[in-house]
Amino acid sequence: MMSPRLAILVAMARNRVIGWNNKLPWHLPADLKHFKFLTMGQTIVMGRKTYESIGKPLPGRTNIIITRQAGYEVPGAIVVSSIDNALLICEENSAINGEHFIIGGEKIYRQTLEICQRMYITEIQRDFEGDVFFPEFDPNEWEETQRDKQISENDANLEYHFVVLDRKVSTI
Ligand SMILES: NC(=O)c1ccc[n+]([C@@H]2O[C@H](COP(=O)([O-])OP(=O)(O)OC[C@H]3O[C@@H](n4cnc5c(N)ncnc54)[C@H](OP(=O)(O)O)[C@@H]3O)[C@@H](O)[C@H]2O)c1
Repeated sequence: MMSPRLAILVAMARNRVIGWNNKLPWHLPADLKHFKFLTMGQTIVMGRKTYESIGKPLPGRTNIIITRQAGYEVPGAIVVSSIDNALLICEENSAINGEHFIIGGEKIYRQTLEICQRMYITEIQRDFEGDVFFPEFDPNEWEETQRDKQISENDANLEYHFVVLDRKVSTI
């Protein structure tokens, strides 16, 4: 199968929480490694708050930050004023990069879920307290093509799964 062009990449708790106080609510170093492995050499698209939570452009990747603030500048990243402009840059980078990753946060996931062909979801098998959530989606529209069970190295009771969902091809 050819690699889909636009993919969501997210880690979410059982109750759909993805963040708290502009930070990740958990400490899962293996998930960060997984994130790095998937995104290295590719384009990553993020909202301004997610960028500020990370704190710097991630090396080895084309970083695109979306904000409505005029004059927002980040050396080493491309700043755009809309989702459409982010997608245009992804398009321009298509010859260089294979897969374009939407890496959050909630506001950006909500506006791009409909146009993504793949989701890489780290499903954390526990509820967490949080203030941002991954949007609900219709599981019937997605086919699970991969699920790898992991156990946290810091907490033997914390299980999480690396899941890949591919959008089902419409037969209409
Ligand atoms: N668990 C995970 O996988 C994961 C991944 C990513 C983030 N997170 C968490 O998610 C939280 C951040 O998510 P969030 O929803 O608060 O913020 P966000 O989606 O990262 O960023 C929101 C900002 O993006 C800009 N924006 C959004 N839509 C836009 C549009 N259509 N046009 C132009 N600009 C637009 C605005 O920036 P301005 O206000 O500057 O205009 C908006 O305030 C943090 O807690 C972070 O840790 C978790």
